[in-house]
Amino acid sequence: MRVSGALVAKALDLLEQEIKPGMTTKELDTMAEEFIRDNHAVPSFLNYVPKSDPGVTPYPATLCISINQEVVHGVPSIKRVVKEGDIVSVDCGVYKGGYHGDAARTFVLGVIDEKVQQLVDVTKESLERGIAMAVEGNRLHDISSAIEDYARSFRFSVIENMVGHGIGSELHEDPAVPNYGRKHTGVKLVEGMTLAIEPMIALGRSRRAVSRRNEWVAVTEDGKPSAHFEHTIVVRQGKAEVLTRTFLE
Ligand code: MF3
Ligand code: CO
Repeated sequence: MRVSGALVAKALDLLEQEIKPGMTTKELDTMAEEFIRDNHAVPSFLNYVPKSDPGVTPYPATLCISINQEVVHGVPSIKRVVKEGDIVSVDCGVYKGGYHGDAARTFVLGVIDEKVQQLVDVTKESLERGIAMAVEGNRLHDISSAIEDYARSFRFSVIENMVGHGIGSELHEDPAVPNYGRKHTGVKLVEGMTLAIEPMIALGRSRRAVSRRNEWVAVTEDGKPSAHFEHTIVVRQGKAEVLTRTFLE
């Protein structure tokens, strides 16, 4: 999982360096897929079918690219161009050696509204607050409540119907990792548990991301912008190990 996680981080670093206004989301997707395959790995999301909804069309791309009011699962397209002032959430999964890595970052293109910039910064920091709780002896919702409390202290809205997850030989494993909850509740965390923690936080009041029938992309109910950061981590004693930390930092 260290190998898969490092590849995800490198793919996101590549995208962070290359993304420019005027590019299509399909160009970014192709860049990521080539990078992953050049490294003898497979995109985790490509052809993914959720176990909960086996009738859905398999996910058709390497990345999820979700712009502004899009919360998650934006499907890359030759018709979708990113522009100055957008926030662009890029989610990437890699499968290698029998294990998955999964991470996401929200990129800011050029100068954006101050409030939207704060949303991005707070979402990123809320993930760090969650990771700080992912230590042996704590409980699952200690992670959740740390994320929720931090986001809510800025009066931002936590998206509740999309969650993080266990991760390993499957992309999505138990337990579900919500971004809200009551501290000191939930399963006990033990050393070696591997989790994908992924806060999705929005301006406005939408607590849900909604999608149309037969569409992957999920958007805020009020059309306000949403940000998304994700890391794959290992629960350890004292301090979590982050497997998808950026190489740019
Ligand atoms: N990181 C997202 C998740 O864990 C990406 C899933 S995209 C999908 O849900 F295509 F695989 F569904
Ligand atoms: Co995930």
